[in-house]
Amino acid sequence: METNNITVDLDLALRNAAGLRGKSDLFLLADSNSCNYCLPKVMQTFELEDSKILVLPAGEQHKTLQTVEKIWNFLIESHATRNSLLLILGGGVLTDMGGFAASTFKRGIPYVNIPTTLLAMVDAAQGGKTGFDYQGLKNEIGMFAPALKTIVYPMFLQTLPSEQLLSGYAEILKHALIASPLELIRVLNFDIDNIDYEQLAELIDRSIDIKQYIVEQDPEETGLRKSLNFGHTIGHAIEEYSLMNKEAKPMLHGYAVMYGMVGELYLSMVKLGLEQQTLTQVVHFMTEHYGKPVCPCKDYGQLLELMRHDKKNTEQGQINFSLLRQVGNCRVNQECTDQEILDALDFLFNI
Ligand SMILES: NC(=O)c1ccc[n+]([C@@H]2O[C@H](COP(=O)([O-])OP(=O)(O)OC[C@H]3O[C@@H](n4cnc5c(N)ncnc54)[C@H](O)[C@@H]3O)[C@@H](O)[C@H]2O)c1
Ligand SMILES: [Zn+2]
Repeated sequence: METNNITVDLDLALRNAAGLRGKSDLFLLADSNSCNYCLPKVMQTFELEDSKILVLPAGEQHKTLQTVEKIWNFLIESHATRNSLLLILGGGVLTDMGGFAASTFKRGIPYVNIPTTLLAMVDAAQGGKTGFDYQGLKNEIGMFAPALKTIVYPMFLQTLPSEQLLSGYAEILKHALIASPLELIRVLNFDIDNIDYEQLAELIDRSIDIKQYIVEQDPEETGLRKSLNFGHTIGHAIEEYSLMNKEAKPMLHGYAVMYGMVGELYLSMVKLGLEQQTLTQVVHFMTEHYGKPVCPCKDYGQLLELMRHDKKNTEQGQINFSLLRQVGNCRVNQECTDQEILDALDFLFNI
């Protein structure tokens, strides 16, 4: 199926973006997969010489200072100037890292995100957080530097592996949970195994609107933006443990967030009186699509330790949660006792 007018007309959006700078001043960043699957479509709009395109290896393990240097070197060697524009075609790894490289090159050149994964469309490529991993710590170095524009073309998702699609879908579910009961129903009822791209495009549009609205109110995350961390306190601990520990199976971000959300919905019920029905619905959705979570470590204490070291905590040793009083009503800076967190983990890993 080829529907060009979903969310954006890609051709028109690319021409508009290119028009922001002279065509000769355009550079493009891709990774090996976005180069294979998405670049041909972009090249239908305008031809870019090979020398203006940098293709990087795919994967989080390449989200490093060395790769950022490769991008700077490429821009220098191909004579980019402060009037140049960088197009970033790829998933969240590329939009984070490319956005950082552009925003620091010659004190900052503009960049346009063209996300090619669901996670990047609704989350990573929105909201201006850029950066890379450093000394084994995720996103340790980075800055707030919004893209000039983000072009969302959902048909790129046709080649995305299903687990990557589910990973991004967890962030769509998160946005719905913090935004509105009606959106939650739409997200839970969408047939993710048999995708209708028109419907998915609508879900993506609304999901982006939710994130943008929150980011506009609080661009540098002093308060409201922390609601976007819902599910991420427990989620990050599970993700980090699975990445650190050679015996544990590495877990995609969105899967960890899905499990984290269930743990934090449980905490929301205990601490803020969230109705049980929401937890029940989300548990059902999780088991159907993501499978039951398996605890990656021998005792929950290890996960608790990782939560204590989360960079979202403002005070040493205190674990910060964003929890729901109701669907659409998120409370930030919520503290929970160790026992409450352990109970939530126990609930999660015994589903
Ligand atoms: N800046 C933010 O606010 C923010 C928010 C959330 C996540 N992130 C970051 O985003 C990153 C994760 O993003 P991601 O999940 O997109 O990972 P990713 O960029 O690694 O992409 C996942 C995989 O899909 C491949 N791929 C990309 N587009 C494809 C396509 N159309 N068809 C087939 N394969 C394709 C990629 O090559 C890669 O192998 C993490 O580094 C995370 O820290 C940033
Ligand atoms: Zn996330």
